[in-house]
Amino acid sequence: MFKSLRDFLDHLEEQGDLLKVNEELSTKHEIHAVLKYADKGRGPAVFFPNVKGYRVPVVGNLLGRRRRLAWALGVEERQIVDEYYRRRQQTRKPRIVADGPVKEVIIRDKVDITEVIPVLTHHAKDIGPYFSSAVTIAKDPETGVQGMGIHRIQVKDQHTLGLFLATPPLSAYLKKAEERNQPLDIAVVIGLDPLTFFSSVIWAPPGFDKFEIAGALAQQPIELVRCATVDLEVPAQAEFVLEGRVLPGVRDTEGPFGESSGYYFTYQNPVAEVQALMHRKDPIYQALCVWSQEESTLMDVGWAVDNLRPLRAEFPNIKRIEFREIGALGIVQIDKKSESEPQRIIEHLLSTVFAKMVLVVDTDVDIDDERELSWALATRVRGQKDLIIKPEMMGSMIDPSAVMEASTARGKLSAIDTHVAKVTKIGVDATKPLHELEKYEKIDIPSEIKDRIAPLIQKYCPEVKMF
Ligand SMILES: Cc1cc2nc3c(=O)[nH]c(=O)nc-3n(C[C@H](O)[C@H](O)[C@H](O)COP(=O)(O)O)c2cc1C
Repeated sequence: MFKSLRDFLDHLEEQGDLLKVNEELSTKHEIHAVLKYADKGRGPAVFFPNVKGYRVPVVGNLLGRRRRLAWALGVEERQIVDEYYRRRQQTRKPRIVADGPVKEVIIRDKVDITEVIPVLTHHAKDIGPYFSSAVTIAKDPETGVQGMGIHRIQVKDQHTLGLFLATPPLSAYLKKAEERNQPLDIAVVIGLDPLTFFSSVIWAPPGFDKFEIAGALAQQPIELVRCATVDLEVPAQAEFVLEGRVLPGVRDTEGPFGESSGYYFTYQNPVAEVQALMHRKDPIYQALCVWSQEESTLMDVGWAVDNLRPLRAEFPNIKRIEFREIGALGIVQIDKKSESEPQRIIEHLLSTVFAKMVLVVDTDVDIDDERELSWALATRVRGQKDLIIKPEMMGSMIDPSAVMEASTARGKLSAIDTHVAKVTKIGVDATKPLHELEKYEKIDIPSEIKDRIAPLIQKYCPEVKMF
């Protein structure tokens, strides 16, 4: 298991999957631009040792390809789903340890985030630097249970942050703190081992500590240390931890920020003051390329698995589910046995918050191949029968097509005070009609020939999956 970000980077280097860009580059757009274009090619993680104006190196696109999540789990890429599910069954409570590398340097007064941490400015119209890979941790003011998630965080000045807290558990914790007119203590953690990072955004039931999921995936307890100034515990092996408090009832303009959905958003959002900073003596800053494949690894893999198991209990003919666009597009592959199955699956998935479009295809469609998906859409959909349109459904706050129905008393949209992003959802049944299967027979190569040439394909085109 990789205990820290740097252990994992050593492994990526050994595997030839860590690109080193030695040229001096600026945190203002330049590093993010390289991350963006690197993501369009074979997609290595990228390390920048020379960052203009900083002594701290930057790394990005850590989980930009699923093969790297597979390495973190120690399995083949095709085994991720089963292995994730198997390990998740045995959660492990984190272990509190007395000390850890993240406490090598502790700055308590005169904290200046901008001086120490090379926070990136990402897209052209972003208001300024943002933490895009930071995991924010807080405790439920009622129960004391710790929760976490990745939230975009604007660096407003040396020690002030703007936080987009739209999803639980953190949005719920802040609401509870505000009802008591209390600040919410937070720890913002940057630079984590890959499995803790991945676990931070997995869906978990209220009251469940996601470090237990991280422990399950790592197959050993995650070691945590106590923060210096707040009553929170953070991974001992992290690179940076900012400690602060979200001010109750305060909202301020946060954004524009180019989001994971590919569009800019500005909201009136909570504000936090940072009072302490802990870091390793030679820290590495972990960045995330916004609107990239890394977000898909983080959001879409776990969601697919967590949705697949319960859905399969009801619809045993489902073979696979894939999500794209941070959950907005769901693709389901089924071995259809009755005409009503696709529509029932669509209804079920569209009732979850994030799925906005669901496409159902047959097992003879390779869902990893975009061409075959378009082929199924183009040839198997009968517009008059196969579309389901569901208006007025709850959608995502970062979907530009959503209509924001409720706003704050202040008359401006706030991610935490606004809950009704309404969208029209669509389901598409692109499966073959059961009574006309002959008409829809997919052209194919004789199966005995496939078997015979399989070793040749393996030799000459090892990247190809034979379907
Ligand atoms: C890259 C990335 C960025 C995210 N940014 C935000 C954000 O700015 N605000 C937010 O509320 N949720 C954001 N999320 C989603 C939450 O982190 C995630 O929904 C939450 O942790 C899920 O936890 P829960 O389902 O247990 O509530 C982001 C997720 C990822 C992967």
